[in-house]
Amino acid sequence: MENNALAPPCSSRVSEQPQEIENSPPELIVSVKNLVKRFGALQVLNGVSLEIKRGQLVAIVGRSGSGKSTLLRCMNALESIEGGELQVCGHDVGAPSRLARRELRSDVGIVFQSYNLFPHLTVERNITLALTAVKKHSRAEAGVIASRVLALVGLLDKAASYPEQLSGGQSQRVAIARSLALSPQLMLFDEVTSALDPELTGEVLKVMEDLSRQGMTMVLVTHEMAFARRLADVVIFMHQGRVWEMGPPEELFNHPKTPEFKQFISSGL
Ligand SMILES: Nc1ncnc2c1ncn2[C@@H]1O[C@H](COP(=O)(O)OP(=O)(O)O)[C@@H](O)[C@H]1O
Ligand SMILES: [Mg+2]
Repeated sequence: MENNALAPPCSSRVSEQPQEIENSPPELIVSVKNLVKRFGALQVLNGVSLEIKRGQLVAIVGRSGSGKSTLLRCMNALESIEGGELQVCGHDVGAPSRLARRELRSDVGIVFQSYNLFPHLTVERNITLALTAVKKHSRAEAGVIASRVLALVGLLDKAASYPEQLSGGQSQRVAIARSLALSPQLMLFDEVTSALDPELTGEVLKVMEDLSRQGMTMVLVTHEMAFARRLADVVIFMHQGRVWEMGPPEELFNHPKTPEFKQFISSGL
């Protein structure tokens, strides 16, 4: 059992061994080269290339249908790929075996807009289920981990509650905690606040901000431009299945290079 639910201590934002960290180059967690994905005749990703380093917060923005969710799903081997190279947390995601896929999924957490909690199980059991069934922890060990991740998302007092007793924001925080319980190296978030009203959006964004500050490597597809602008290390604008623009948020938002991104920003999306 690990002591730290978050990123391993080699993260650039975790200061357990500062000298070593300063001297070592940031580790690549995701490397995508010329990624091609088709659904039948429809080419959804048209040669996507990007790199993500340990500890980075990467925000992916773009219009509906531009391929953002598909890109995230490829990173977690939820979709097969038709071309290019995809390395995630040291795993070759190109053509993974079943075992490789399982190992990849234990390193990469993904949270969607819908929380998908089991309604008949308590919050704690929703979190411990995969720990006991898949990771073979004892119920006692799993309970300790559940308490730790619930504390991280500020919901320790809801351990015995059922999903129907939670607000949307709280449910989403439980979904995040459930993912964190598996000690991922990388967390993917696909529009996790899109179904929430502004107040509840704020509490989920706060959890994501805390996670990032604690060193978690994160990729989020989001419409929350202010959040992306303030916290992302890198913003990626996707358009027509391509990385259309990519860079630090200040540079990208202050000096958009393409008419498509200019229009996207001005549309307030
Ligand atoms: N399982 C699927 N089968 C067929 N087409 C799909 C599938 N998933 C996504 N698409 C299509 O791929 C394109 C990109 O979708 P998606 O990645 O969901 O975009 P975004 O997340 O940017 O809105 C869209 O045209 C969508 O209709
Ligand atoms: Mg999407």
